[in-house]
Amino acid sequence: MSVEAYSTLIMAIPGPVLLVGEDQRIMTANDAASETLGPNLAGQSVYAIIRQPDATRAFEAIRDANTSGTEARFIQTTPTGETIFRMVLRKLQPKSGARVTLATFVDISHIEEAEQMRRDFVANVSHELRSPLTVLGGFIETLQTAARDDVEARLRFLDIMAKEAQRMNRIVDDLLSLSNVEANEKVRPRDLIDLSDVIGSTIAALRPQIENNQIRLNYDPATSSHVIRGERDQLIQVFRNLIENAVKYGGSGGTVTIRTREHARMPGFSGPVVIVDVVDTGDGIDSVHLPRLTERFYRVDTHRSREKGGTGLGLAIVKHILNRHRARLSIQSSKGVGSTFSVQLPKDT
Ligand SMILES: Nc1ncnc2c1ncn2[C@@H]1O[C@H](COP(=O)(O)OP(=O)(O)O)[C@@H](O)[C@H]1O
Ligand SMILES: [Mg+2]
Repeated sequence: MSVEAYSTLIMAIPGPVLLVGEDQRIMTANDAASETLGPNLAGQSVYAIIRQPDATRAFEAIRDANTSGTEARFIQTTPTGETIFRMVLRKLQPKSGARVTLATFVDISHIEEAEQMRRDFVANVSHELRSPLTVLGGFIETLQTAARDDVEARLRFLDIMAKEAQRMNRIVDDLLSLSNVEANEKVRPRDLIDLSDVIGSTIAALRPQIENNQIRLNYDPATSSHVIRGERDQLIQVFRNLIENAVKYGGSGGTVTIRTREHARMPGFSGPVVIVDVVDTGDGIDSVHLPRLTERFYRVDTHRSREKGGTGLGLAIVKHILNRHRARLSIQSSKGVGSTFSVQLPKDT
């Protein structure tokens, strides 16, 4: 094949591709390469364009060594963030006899991001499980030694140990829940569900917590009869977490309001939408936290969340369940006034 034929070929490739001559100057760049590396690439030295040590070394290696190919990471920094490319170099021998190098760039940012998320997740899970384990280990040792014959201390310690064991149980339950929800996130729910039934059952299950926190609940079941396609158990999980959060973080003696209404039209939805607001009169959440609340293990105040039996996974589960229902969560909150968690569900038509 001639250099011209290679040039024609790389123009048809969607990702960035360069053809580099023996003098290390760019012979041809396709459109994607111009978009990524800048305009007017032809004729320029490749080292003027690729200024990163790893990537430069790869070009030197293919020039000097007797290898037919090599690769390196190439990171493109733009005002909006970083794109990570896997840059692969291959020696070609066109008919003319001159040696040229073909450089292809594959965007691997999403793969690296997914790997980073997985590492963070494993680290977080280990950390979350370690703290109750440390407490348990400490008390077991005390019971084996100092508190061996102290009946009163023993009962108190066993109480704490039971609580820590329950905490580990909740974390594992939530993790399993999260992985189940993720596993069937792509499967559309088919059942017709009346939201008043879902909300009614959720409130009934939370009754003891509502009473313990002396919360006044505003909810009118008569206005909440809206039928949507969904999975009952999952929707109960959504509203349980939202109402439980409103009760937990809404402050003792506060008011929790649950409102349901229907909108014929809403941006981002093709048909009518049912909106359920869960409103509390708690301390509110600083706006810097709002975009991150649905991340796994993200809490505004870790100590407070733990004290109240939270795992930090509730809203992450909510988000995945809502994704499956093609629904959305919006959060509004102001410090000192309270928060509104609003679920927008597409209505079955
Ligand atoms: N209604 C609310 N008012 C104030 N803060 C809230 C509210 N709901 C959630 N949060 C904050 O968001 C965090 C994450 O919530 P969630 O994922 O349900 O975890 P958890 O309840 O187990 O701590 C909570 O720890 C809390 O800091
Ligand atoms: Mg919660």
